[in-house]
Amino acid sequence: MATVKFAGGDDVPLEMHKVRIVQKLNLPPIEARLEAASAAGNNTFLLRNKDVFMDMLTDSGVNAMSDQQLAAMMVADDSYAGSATYEKLEAKLREIFGLHWILPAHQGRACENILAQVLVTPGSIVPMNYHFTTTKAHIVLNGGAVEEIITDAGLEVTSDRPFKGDMDVAKLEGLVATHGADKIAFVRMEAGTNLIGGQPISLGNLVAVRAVCDRHGLLLVLDASLLADNLWFIKTRDPACRDLSIRDITRRIADLCDVIYFSARKLGCARGGGLCIRDEALYRRMRGLVPLYEGFLTYGGMSVREIEALTVGLDETMDEDMISQGPLFIAYMVDELVKRGVPVITPAGGLGCHIDVMRFLDHVPQSQYPAGALASALYIASGVRGMERGTLSEQRNPDGSEVYANMELLRLAMPRRVFTLSQVKYAIDRIDWLWRNRALVGGLEFVEEPEILRFFYGRLKPIGDWQEKLVAKFRADFGDSL
Ligand code: F0G
Repeated sequence: MATVKFAGGDDVPLEMHKVRIVQKLNLPPIEARLEAASAAGNNTFLLRNKDVFMDMLTDSGVNAMSDQQLAAMMVADDSYAGSATYEKLEAKLREIFGLHWILPAHQGRACENILAQVLVTPGSIVPMNYHFTTTKAHIVLNGGAVEEIITDAGLEVTSDRPFKGDMDVAKLEGLVATHGADKIAFVRMEAGTNLIGGQPISLGNLVAVRAVCDRHGLLLVLDASLLADNLWFIKTRDPACRDLSIRDITRRIADLCDVIYFSARKLGCARGGGLCIRDEALYRRMRGLVPLYEGFLTYGGMSVREIEALTVGLDETMDEDMISQGPLFIAYMVDELVKRGVPVITPAGGLGCHIDVMRFLDHVPQSQYPAGALASALYIASGVRGMERGTLSEQRNPDGSEVYANMELLRLAMPRRVFTLSQVKYAIDRIDWLWRNRALVGGLEFVEEPEILRFFYGRLKPIGDWQEKLVAKFRADFGDSL
């Protein structure tokens, strides 16, 4: 994908696949989009997909699948126990990662439930480069606490550092010194840190973290849900890895880990999850939870068709052309937005493009949920659905006061191989228009605020009539365009 040069000198990410199955999209006129946004309580989670033009809410379970994956689904071995389909998955995971013991699960958070139930005890801590929402919830539910020890550079919104997902190894040593190794349930590294812009970890950092784990007898667990993007970044951003194949890089990473778990809604472009475990005794401790929470050991809550698709998808993840598509499309979007002065997280990461709403809407205070307001405004202006990742996604303190997020982000996920470049150009154009009209966008306030996970179900309304003004400006600028 990266090696095709254009005679005109353009830098265009060229798709190394063709589209053979399509889904018709609907782009309702802006007046209908305003109505849909209001009906959804200005919460993009509550929009109906039929009202959405580009669904950039997430990359989870919505990646395009290959002809080989679909073909494999037709020959699945549907049996409760001892399925031949499961044996293929087990063999593929062993081949790719080299960890012998495998457990299936219905998705990533189910793996986290098993890990936390077995390894986390009340009062224990789990150091990690950065948390993910479901990971943290399971650790806390089991009486543990999360310690985020990302390097300071990881939280710089704009930067040119290639590996902003790296862990601060000195802080890890510090945690061991303060709490003692016995209190540390395990050390967790998240490839392609989700909540801080899909920023990758480096192989060198993982080697250094492993050395600390070896010194103190700690378990190293890798969340590989976003590993595909991270592999591409290691290959292209670390000069020492340029000549390694994706398989070699994967193996070098895996050789450093005691447990690798993943959401197959992201890794492998299917739907499911799994754990790969080095130690048989640990595997045996975890195994009992699979039939309790997931399903029998040879399907783990996944349909056998999805398992077939996952096995092929994991193999295809070892192909540079396949895994580069997401990062290159995201980089294109980020670069084009930077050219237009739109504040975004840099360098471009995996998962999606992240707009820095603290700067985009610097006139909207955090108490009025600027990232939620921008998500709503962008849907109204374009039919593009993004996800708020800011204060709205936090939980209030027990006294009712707000927890203001470190970053106010609008995440625009790039499901792999789903959108064409002209669709991405459309999203860039409408974001640019919104940027030039940002003064029109105001804040939101709750109408209905659930106590837990309010970002999923909460309903909000605009403060003032800014949405009507935005629609009027759109009509003035675009005439009768959709
Ligand atoms: N770990 C990471 C890094 C994730 O991004 C996710 C999910 C999970 C674990 C949980 O996996 O959804 O299969 O249970 N991220 C999705 C997202 C939900 O939209 O970013 P799951």
